[in-house]
Amino acid sequence: MWGSTRGSGGDPVVPPVSVSVAYTYDLEALASGGPREEAEVKYSRENNPTTMLLEGRLAGLEGARWGLAFNSGMAAITALLLYWRLGRGGRVVVERLSYGSTRAAASWILGDRLAVAGPPWDELLHEADKPGVGLVLVETMGNPTLRVPPLRDLARVCLERDCVLAVDNTMASPVLARPLDLGAGLVVESLTKYIIGSNDALGGLIAGADGILHVALWRARRLLGSILQPREAYQALKGLETLSLRVPHASRTALEVARWLEESGLAERVYYPGLESHPDHHIARRILRGGYGGVVSFDLGSRERALALLSRLRRIRPASSFGATQPLASYPYASSHRNLPEEERERLGVTPGLVRLSVGVATPEEIIGDLEAALS
Ligand SMILES: Cc1ncc(COP(=O)(O)O)c(C=O)c1O
Repeated sequence: MWGSTRGSGGDPVVPPVSVSVAYTYDLEALASGGPREEAEVKYSRENNPTTMLLEGRLAGLEGARWGLAFNSGMAAITALLLYWRLGRGGRVVVERLSYGSTRAAASWILGDRLAVAGPPWDELLHEADKPGVGLVLVETMGNPTLRVPPLRDLARVCLERDCVLAVDNTMASPVLARPLDLGAGLVVESLTKYIIGSNDALGGLIAGADGILHVALWRARRLLGSILQPREAYQALKGLETLSLRVPHASRTALEVARWLEESGLAERVYYPGLESHPDHHIARRILRGGYGGVVSFDLGSRERALALLSRLRRIRPASSFGATQPLASYPYASSHRNLPEEERERLGVTPGLVRLSVGVATPEEIIGDLEAALS
C-alpha cells in the first residue's frame, strides 16, 4: 500500500493513481469469508486505493472515524437523503438557507417528510426539537449571506431527540471548522470548492464516526455508482497539500475586502461573518477557527449596478463557483437561487443587487483594485 515506510527508499512522494477497475482477490481472506465489504478492494465502483487514501486523510482532517468520497457534492447529499428516505423513518429538517440544489433534492426525495426552517435560528431550533425528526441538515456557513447557525445548540437538541445533525462544511472547510467536534453526527462536503481548489474536478464527501451509518452509506454509494474516481481523488489529494495555506490566505484577503467595502460606502450592505455588523458574528467567532472564509457578499442596490460590476471586472471572473484559486464573482439572484419564488429570495437576502465574491488566492490589493475600478 502506498505511504508505508519501507525504509529502503524508492517510495513515491506523490500518491499513485490506481486506475485499475478490478483488483485480484485475497484468496486466503476469500476462503475465510472475506474481509468487511466496506474495506475490501476488489472493484472500483466499491472501493479504490487512491480514493481510500483520500478518504483516510479527509476523515483525519474532519475528526471523523471514516470518510466516503463521492463524485460530486450533490452525489454525497442525495445519497444521504435517499438513504434517509428509504432506510430510516422520521422527518428531515433542512436549513432554509441551504444551497439551492440541496433544497431542491430534499424536497424531491423527501416530499412531505421534509421541513424547511431558519434563519432565524430560533425557528430552526424549534423545528429540530419536534418529535419524530431523524435528521437535521445545515451548513456551517450558508450561501450567499454567510449565516452561521448555532451548531452547538443544534447538536444539543439533536442529542436529546436522538436525531442526527449533518453539517455541510463546504464553505468553511475543515481548516476553519470541525462540526463533528461541536457535536454533529455527520459532515458532508463538496470537495469541488476549497479541497480540490482548482476548478477542474468535482467531488463530495460524507464523514462521521457511527459504524452503522458508514456501512449503510457505503452500500448506498455502491448501488448508486457514485464513488469518487481515482483521478479526481488524486486531484483532491493534491488540493489537500495546499489547503491549510490557501484557506487562511483567502480568509485574510476576504476580511480586508469586506472591511474596505463597508468603509467605502460603495455597497448598500456587506455580508461577511468576520464583520461585527454581520448578524452571526458572535456565533462565527465561537465556531470558526483562524478566519471567516474566502467569500464576501455585497448588495449594490439594483440589478443594473450588479450586472454592470460583473461586466467591468478584469481580474475577477463572473462565474458561479467558489473556493478555488481563481477569484470569481457570482450573481445568486439569477443563478444559484433563480428557481426560488421572489418572496423566498427576498427572505434569504438574495436581492437583485447581490453579488457573491470568492477571492481565491488573489491579494487584497488585486481584488480591491479590480472592484474599485469597476465600481467607479
Ligand atoms: C454548500 C454547498 N454544498 C454542496 C454543493 C454541491 O457541490 P457539487 O457542485 O460538488 O455537487 C455546493 C455547490 O455549489 C455548495 O455550495
